Amino acid sequence: MTYPLPPSPVHQRQWLVAGELRHWGGPVRDVFSPVLNGGQPTPLGSFPLLGEPEALEAISAAATAWGKGRGVWPTMTVAARIGCVERFLTGMIAVRERVVETICWEIGKSRPDSEKEFDRTVAYVRDTLAAVKELDRAGSRFQQVEGIVAQVRRAPLGVTLCMGPYNYPLNETFTTLIPALVMGNPVICKPAKYGVLLLEPLLAPFADAFPAGVVNTIYGQGKTVVSPLVASGGIDCLAFIGTSRAADAIRRAHPKPHRMRCVLGLEAKNVAIVTASADLDLAVRECLAGTLTFNGQRCTAIKLLAVARPVFDAFAARFTAAVDRLVVGHPWTKGVGVTPLPEPDAPERMAALVADAEAKGARVLNTRGGRLDATTFFPTVVAPVTPGMRLWHEEQFGPVVPIAVYDDIEDPLAWIRDADQGQQASIFSRDPAEVAILVDGLANQVCRVNLNSQCQRGPDVFPFTGRKDSAEGTLSVSDALRAFSIRSMAAARDTPENRAILGDVVLSHRSAFLSTDWLF
Ligand code: G3H
Repeated sequence: MTYPLPPSPVHQRQWLVAGELRHWGGPVRDVFSPVLNGGQPTPLGSFPLLGEPEALEAISAAATAWGKGRGVWPTMTVAARIGCVERFLTGMIAVRERVVETICWEIGKSRPDSEKEFDRTVAYVRDTLAAVKELDRAGSRFQQVEGIVAQVRRAPLGVTLCMGPYNYPLNETFTTLIPALVMGNPVICKPAKYGVLLLEPLLAPFADAFPAGVVNTIYGQGKTVVSPLVASGGIDCLAFIGTSRAADAIRRAHPKPHRMRCVLGLEAKNVAIVTASADLDLAVRECLAGTLTFNGQRCTAIKLLAVARPVFDAFAARFTAAVDRLVVGHPWTKGVGVTPLPEPDAPERMAALVADAEAKGARVLNTRGGRLDATTFFPTVVAPVTPGMRLWHEEQFGPVVPIAVYDDIEDPLAWIRDADQGQQASIFSRDPAEVAILVDGLANQVCRVNLNSQCQRGPDVFPFTGRKDSAEGTLSVSDALRAFSIRSMAAARDTPENRAILGDVVLSHRSAFLSTDWLF
């Protein structure tokens, strides 16, 4: 792969509100790529820094589309909503190349991983549309129980604020935005601080595919645009991927927090336990991908390795050699494994975490470890990491791999029990008795135990969630549809008169809710 010329800067001056691409003449934020050009960050353009009035305009547009549940979007048939999403998807696929290249430039993600993010998102949207049809079909029937005849369907929640993260700015944003939309919730989308311009090519397809006010976008400082939205009391559902601290602050701003359903993907500190019986070559391979894919900037990344003392030396030697073989380069470098970090303060933050561990008795194990070159931090393996060190409990979200050593299998289980996070864990073992102990010891601490494989979200049909500070609500192709809806039912005493009324309503197609139509 060749290294492309820097793109022409995109100076985004538009925001989408009430079905219009509105021009913005106010302050903007400049965007620079972490990929350097002549030693300097490459300018990529700029985007609007909207104010409170614009945020309130977005909520008013979304509230109109919601119409207290009687608006154009929640009352539209599921088939028609699916049609809107399909139209959007066609527009999205048409701008694939621009989006993929902007992901590379804006957040430094490798070209193959950026392509994967786009294509996985398209597949997720298609799978969501298939799942929503299934859900609608399941609700297109009556049930007769204990003298009551009823129809149960899933209904939308209301105005939904979607806030995605910078590391999967397209995929993670769309895994909440699309299910929320297709279930009938109008959406206000606020991108993260980094990874904004890659969504710009999608504004026109959004405007083209959805009725006015169904999709709105806002940009700017959280305090300026998010706080007033939530404080207005007009947000019925919050989909947020980020830290629990930020999620708590947003929720507290709501005048009636219990009225805002929260679907949250938060911090994680996934541990991989490498036991004495592990296949070390396999463990090294999986732990390498698990810790350092996209520089460790995945919520699902393995963020602490717990290695049994008898195999520590052998594992550490093979693992550090593999880490030092990773290709450091640009998103377009052939076989690249480590790329520049999009957060300007990330390299210093990584260096500070390593320095803290070193000051408390750990050392850097690999040759290139600790090297910092402008926006790139070389992957760094640190051991032995112990409870007093920041790397023990802080989510590093970068290319630093802490290793702790354990003597008793109960030790890592206790560490995980005491941790604030509870998303996933990996275990590496060839001993069925040990596997049973570990799976049982972890299943009530985390929400996915990966045997002889790295932690990961996919395949997207599996439930993605976490305990403690790691998540609220469950996402997957089908679970997300449930997360952004609530069951609602119409029920009647099962009398001949009521049956006749219900039969008439259904046969005359007078009601969208009371219907047994099959969605093809
Ligand atoms: O940051 C979290 C992403 O959803 C990671 O997804 O584990 O499938 O790579 P993944």
